[in-house]
Amino acid sequence: MLIRVRRFAHPIAPSEITPQSLYQARRDFLRAAGFAGIGLALPAWGVDKLAGVQKSSYSTSETPTPLINIASYNNYYEFGTRKDSPSENSGQFKTRPWTLRIEGLCAKPRSFAIEDLLKLAPLEERIYRMRCVEGWSMVIPWNGYPLATLLKQVEPLAGAKYVEFTTVADRATMPGLSFPVLDWPYTEGLRIDEAMHPLTLLTLGLYGEELLAQNGAPVRVVVPWKYGFKSAKSLVRIRLVDKQPATTWTKADPEAYGFYSNVNPEVDHPRWSQANERRLGEFLKRKTLMFNGYADQVAQLYAGMDLRKYF
Ligand code: MTE
Repeated sequence: MLIRVRRFAHPIAPSEITPQSLYQARRDFLRAAGFAGIGLALPAWGVDKLAGVQKSSYSTSETPTPLINIASYNNYYEFGTRKDSPSENSGQFKTRPWTLRIEGLCAKPRSFAIEDLLKLAPLEERIYRMRCVEGWSMVIPWNGYPLATLLKQVEPLAGAKYVEFTTVADRATMPGLSFPVLDWPYTEGLRIDEAMHPLTLLTLGLYGEELLAQNGAPVRVVVPWKYGFKSAKSLVRIRLVDKQPATTWTKADPEAYGFYSNVNPEVDHPRWSQANERRLGEFLKRKTLMFNGYADQVAQLYAGMDLRKYF
């Protein structure tokens, strides 16, 4: 993003992609052989299966991207700026104990242990298109439930107009924090109606298992009609506020990263066209759709707004 590690993401050749079944078999083998236990070949990949995941009508019928790509082609700058840094450098990252604090303009501020978040509501499988501002995209089968379900627990007050997300910054286990590439901790924000929209997912899993460190374990938000950076990983605090919060990427480069950051093929980033995208595993580019293909569900949130100004 800000740092030009690779200007345009390279598509991964089909021959390099491991199907989910083969990946699982390899993972089971490594687990049985004890590699996951000693943190060797699969640093943070020893995660538990999620029970009772239900299908959702919000899912796309497009073919999900293989897990090996979702787990090895990541942006998570706290672990480094290369696409393979998060999977390689997250071996020391701990997701237990974990607490998510919800506070600010609400009647019942409180902290949720990760165990409580996993039980708060039935977990759904939401197969979402995800598009990064850098021009690549994936189809990801996330597991979670609407963020609204969690926010309702704390009873937001009428004055709560925005939601601010703060993600973990643990210098001991996140080597990227030693470099001042961004203003840590990573923060993001949504308008309250965006946060309460049924597509906005409090995400606890991926492909029916708990989240991997590189994908934002143990809990993140996923907002499929916005560029990937709005979907903050490894959340430790959610604050209900009355003013639009400052966000990490907007602070880093306000000309390039606006607060809204809705996927919009008509408004280019200064360095990257947003008209087309390359789905990981595919060779040819495809057209990027308005609101990433979720216009029917979300366009009314922005009725009357100039989306060139509020980009
Ligand atoms: N959250 C934190 N804490 N740190 C990050 O660097 N990167 C963002 C977003 N959330 C990021 C983050 C960006 S730029 C993208 S594209 C998505 O995470 C990538 O999510 P994925 O790796 O699970 O696909």
